[in-house]
Amino acid sequence: MDTRPIGVFDSGLGGLTALRELARLMPEEDLVYFGDTSRVPYGGRSREVITKYARQDVAFLRTFRPKAVVIACGTVSTTALDVLQGENNIPIFGVVESAAQAAAQLTKIGRVGLIGTQASIRSGAYERALERLRPGIRVTARACPLLVPLVENGRFRPGDIVAETVAAEYLAPVKAAGVDTLILGCTHYPLLREIVGAYMGPEVALVDVGEQCARWVKRQLELDGLRNHCPGAGRRRYYVSDSTGDFSALASIFLGEDVRGEVEQIDITGY
Ligand code: DGL
Repeated sequence: MDTRPIGVFDSGLGGLTALRELARLMPEEDLVYFGDTSRVPYGGRSREVITKYARQDVAFLRTFRPKAVVIACGTVSTTALDVLQGENNIPIFGVVESAAQAAAQLTKIGRVGLIGTQASIRSGAYERALERLRPGIRVTARACPLLVPLVENGRFRPGDIVAETVAAEYLAPVKAAGVDTLILGCTHYPLLREIVGAYMGPEVALVDVGEQCARWVKRQLELDGLRNHCPGAGRRRYYVSDSTGDFSALASIFLGEDVRGEVEQIDITGY
């Protein structure tokens, strides 16, 4: 039994897709979320810069003495997971392995689509995991650099002509490849789920990497004896590196509860 909080971070809003599932699966756990909103998006940046930002994000979360940190970001998971795991003496979870496991199981025909940021696609990390789990699997990958800024600006609802047009352009070659499973390889993308799902069609299974990661984290914490079994609701705290307004409003909509009073701004450059 371990009552310490779980730290969760992303470049912005996207990691809330993992946090929401963590909170649903483990309501009694304390969760501390950090969204690096002053430096989002990470996906177009170099490995060096992404690693530097990720180190600072983890250093900030470690001030809460967490029992584990969840990298609720495809970009950091594909680029800096090994570095962060090597530098920290607590479990550090990324999103790649659990998503690859889900996709490898879901695909009936062995053809998987993958969308993510430029850094995630460049890394080849999802492909390597998929190939290890299901040798010979065919992956059609596409970097979608405009999707994170759209989501951060609240442009993710069905009927949003800009979001629908951009998504359709990115997804066209993936759909044409005849995949039956699509990994939403960036934690921001589940906010576009309805748009993506409508374009790909009901026969294509969508893998939400944040959701899969949350399930995996729960299993691992249980195996390691790190769960908090105290009855009652855990505390949720939210931190961002830019002003709280937009984040609070969008997070409240996405999480389905008013978190406006619980979001604080910090200076991440000091970590
Ligand atoms: N949610 C992040 C991811 O999963 C977005 C990265 C970015 O900021 O570009 O990749």
